[in-house]
Amino acid sequence: MKELQVKNNADGKVFGQLVEVPKPTPGPNNILIKVAVTGTNPKDWKYITAEKGFNSGDDIAGTVDAVGDNVASFRPGDRVAAFHVMLTENGSFAEYAIAPATTTFHIPSSLSFEDAATIPLVAYTAAIALYQELRLPAPWSRPSGESIPFVVYAGSTSVGLTALKLARLSGLSPLITIAGGSKDVIEKDNLADVIIDYRNNPNIAEDIKKALNGKELLHAFDAFSEHPSAEPLAANLSPKGKLVGILQYKQELPNGHKLKFAYVGSGHKVYPPLNTEEESKADQDFVQVFSSYLEKVLKEGRFKTHPVEVLVGGLNGIPEGLNKLKEQKVKARKLVARIAETQGL
Ligand SMILES: NC(=O)c1ccc[n+]([C@@H]2O[C@H](COP(=O)([O-])OP(=O)(O)OC[C@H]3O[C@@H](n4cnc5c(N)ncnc54)[C@H](OP(=O)(O)O)[C@@H]3O)[C@@H](O)[C@H]2O)c1
Repeated sequence: MKELQVKNNADGKVFGQLVEVPKPTPGPNNILIKVAVTGTNPKDWKYITAEKGFNSGDDIAGTVDAVGDNVASFRPGDRVAAFHVMLTENGSFAEYAIAPATTTFHIPSSLSFEDAATIPLVAYTAAIALYQELRLPAPWSRPSGESIPFVVYAGSTSVGLTALKLARLSGLSPLITIAGGSKDVIEKDNLADVIIDYRNNPNIAEDIKKALNGKELLHAFDAFSEHPSAEPLAANLSPKGKLVGILQYKQELPNGHKLKFAYVGSGHKVYPPLNTEEESKADQDFVQVFSSYLEKVLKEGRFKTHPVEVLVGGLNGIPEGLNKLKEQKVKARKLVARIAETQGL
C-alpha cells in the first residue's frame, strides 16, 4: 500500500512524497481501517522535520478492514471514524491506517466520510479539556439545575467550536465566546449566548465581565493559547476557578492564575511531565466512554460536524493544505482529502 510522507523543505514549506510501505497488521487492541478520507490538523505540520518524511495524519474516516484479537465491538465492513496515536507510524495519510478501538466510533450512514474526518482529534481534545481537566459536568450526567457560566476563547477554531458544541450538550450557561471573522459558524448553530469580537478590541476582559453579569466564573477554556489570549479569561476567573488551554502558555496571568495545558495525546499514552500515569489511565478510560457518546449523538443528529473543504488531488493535495494551515489561511473549516482521488496509488 502507499502512504504520503511529509517533511519540511529548506524554505520552510511542507512537501510530500507517496511511498510504498507494508500494509499494517492491527495489534490486539487496534483496528485496521481502509481510509476513505483523511482529515488534517495544525499538528500535522508542526511536528514534522526536514530530515525524514513522516505520515503525520491522525484523523481517519473509512471502513474497518481487520480488528485485533481483543476488539469485540467492531467488525470488517463497519463505517467508522478514528483518532490515530499521534507521532506513531500508520497514520491517516495512507490507504490503510491503524487506530486503537478506544478512539474509534461508528458513524451513521447519513454522515459522509468527508464530514466524519473532521471530528476525531478535535473532539477528543475538547472533551478531555472540558470533562477531564476542567471537570465540567459531562452531558450524560444528570443536570444539577444550577447555571454554570463558561467562557471559550477562540470559539471559531476547530477545537473551540467543538468545545462550544459539547458545552451546549452539557447545558452550560451562559456560554460566552471570543471570535473574529468566522463567528458566523458559531451563530449558525446558536452555539454561544454572547460572542465578543477580538479584532481591534482592547476591552475583551471588560466585555466578558459585562456578559457574566455578576455571575462567578469557575471555568474557562482557551482554544487559542497564544499570548495574550488567556489574559482576559484569567482577569475574570474566580480565585477558585480553573483555566485550561491547548498550548503551553508561559506568560504570567492576572490574579496569579495558571493555564493548565490539556493534551489530547493523554487519551492514548502518558506524556510526562504533562500528565501522570494515573491521569493518563483515567483519560484512556474516558476516551472510550466518550467514543460511545459521540457515536450516539452523531446517530441522533445532536452533534453537527465542522464546515469542510476537500483538497484537490487526494493525498497529493495534503502538502498544500498543510502549508495553508501553517500560513493561518484556513478559517473555520477542516481540510480533508479523499484517498481514492490520489494519482499514483
Ligand atoms: N493540546 C492539544 O491536544 C491540541 C489539540 C488540537 C489542536 N491543538 C492546537 O490548538 C490550536 C488550534 O487548532 P485548531 O485546529 O482548532 O485551529 P484552526 O481550526 O485551524 O483555527 C483557525 C481559526 O483560528 C481563529 N483565530 C486566528 N487568530 C485568532 C486569534 N488571535 N484569536 C482567536 N481566534 C483566532 C480564526 O477564527 P476567526 O476567523 O474567527 O478569527 C480561524 O478560523 C493549534 O495551535 C493546534 O496546534 C492542540
